Amino acid sequence: MKIYVATHNAHKISEMAAILPKGTELVPDDPGVEETGETFEENALLKARATARRHPGEWTLADDSGLETAALGGAPGVRSARFAGEPVSTARNNAKLLAELAGAADRSARFRCCIALVAPDGTESVVQGVCPGRIAESASGAEGFGYDPLFVPDGRDRTFAELGPDEKNAISHRGAALRAAGKVLFP
Ligand code: IMP
Repeated sequence: MKIYVATHNAHKISEMAAILPKGTELVPDDPGVEETGETFEENALLKARATARRHPGEWTLADDSGLETAALGGAPGVRSARFAGEPVSTARNNAKLLAELAGAADRSARFRCCIALVAPDGTESVVQGVCPGRIAESASGAEGFGYDPLFVPDGRDRTFAELGPDEKNAISHRGAALRAAGKVLFP
């Protein structure tokens, strides 16, 4: 089954390919829409619908995800990619997060991922996955992307960036959302 995926992020495509059933052909096609939604769900739907308009009669999938911290009232949230402003910089985002959490008693956080799907007949579905954890005092690990070097999932004492892709996919927000998306795609 061919699915057009609204992203240009090669990391995401490979994470998705590892989780969705074999035989799923993921074709990246970023529609370039502005993510103006106030929630992950709104942004995922904006991107999936824009991709569906480019490929009528095909499956399209879009995800929107980010990190929510308790001490910052849910920030960076939908602004995770641009937390430290433009141009987007993972290093500055991570440095800003550590600075804003300095001295915080509560370092609990969660990654959230919403996936919107548009079926060939136009039917829309939204699924989501959440991964609870906490923000480490400093970065460690070289795998993954984004906030991975700072995020320690519950039940582990290493960051996502130290776990490697298979262990991350088994517990991550995107893994959970993709397994739910798999049930929509292959009922
Ligand atoms: P997007 O809008 O779904 O591309 O994600 C927004 C931002 O959230 C990314 O640029 C990352 O900063 C962050 N993010 C989302 N998922 C992950 C993840 O699995 N690891 C680390 N950072 C993530």
